[in-house]
Amino acid sequence: MIQPQHMPVKFKHPGSYQKMCHLVASNIKDLVKGKGGKEYHNRPVIGLATGTTPLGVYEELKKMKNTNFSDTYTINVDEYIGLEPEFNARLKGKEGYGFPQHPKSYYHYMTEHLFRDINFKRSFFPGESQTDTFDSLIAAMGGIDIQILGIGTNGHIGFNEPGTSRDSLTHVVDLTESTIKDNSRFFDTINDVPKRAITMGIESIMRAKRIYLLAQGKHKKDIFDKAFKGEITPDVPASYLQEHSDCTVMYCD
Ligand code: PGA
Repeated sequence: MIQPQHMPVKFKHPGSYQKMCHLVASNIKDLVKGKGGKEYHNRPVIGLATGTTPLGVYEELKKMKNTNFSDTYTINVDEYIGLEPEFNARLKGKEGYGFPQHPKSYYHYMTEHLFRDINFKRSFFPGESQTDTFDSLIAAMGGIDIQILGIGTNGHIGFNEPGTSRDSLTHVVDLTESTIKDNSRFFDTINDVPKRAITMGIESIMRAKRIYLLAQGKHKKDIFDKAFKGEITPDVPASYLQEHSDCTVMYCD
């Protein structure tokens, strides 16, 4: 068993999903208000996740009408591959970058749930550049200040499935059967779920300065306990977060 080398993860018990989401959104607001750098490498950088869990955080952020996000960058942790054949169908986006337009893409999800309402400086997704340059891009921005994460029922963070190594950077993954099954609720049939994705790696995520991992629902309780009260193991990728120096984890029913 690998021993934690840093501060232990902080457990917070906000009491309700709404309070949990409000707490994370307030910390993002404080960061954005406090940082306010105008230089590229000194602007607030928020790491975003998709799925059901972070939706409440996005709802809370949208309520913060007095916060100006126009100097803030966002980085999404993952994106599907294969919804559009190898991104060929991408339309040219702003500043020469292309984004997948497919309604099941995570870019589309973020547009629907956040970007339509909040005007960020710019938003980045793995896959829009070469995998090996995504981590350099994050570093050039000064790194992620706050990373939001959910946890998969198999313990994944981003699409880092069980077995992913601690030193992984942004990479292409084959999704496991359990992830494909979990995500089939967003698609008409399980056959429509992409089998591959591109994700920031464990090391990419661990470089974030602060991390909030949220878990909601009884179906997440076992894996939450395994990840943060059990041993650090590649079998439960979220357990690597026990080595992070500023990681808060929250569970609610
Ligand atoms: P969920 O997904 O928020 O939809 O449960 C979390 C994840 O798979 O990371």
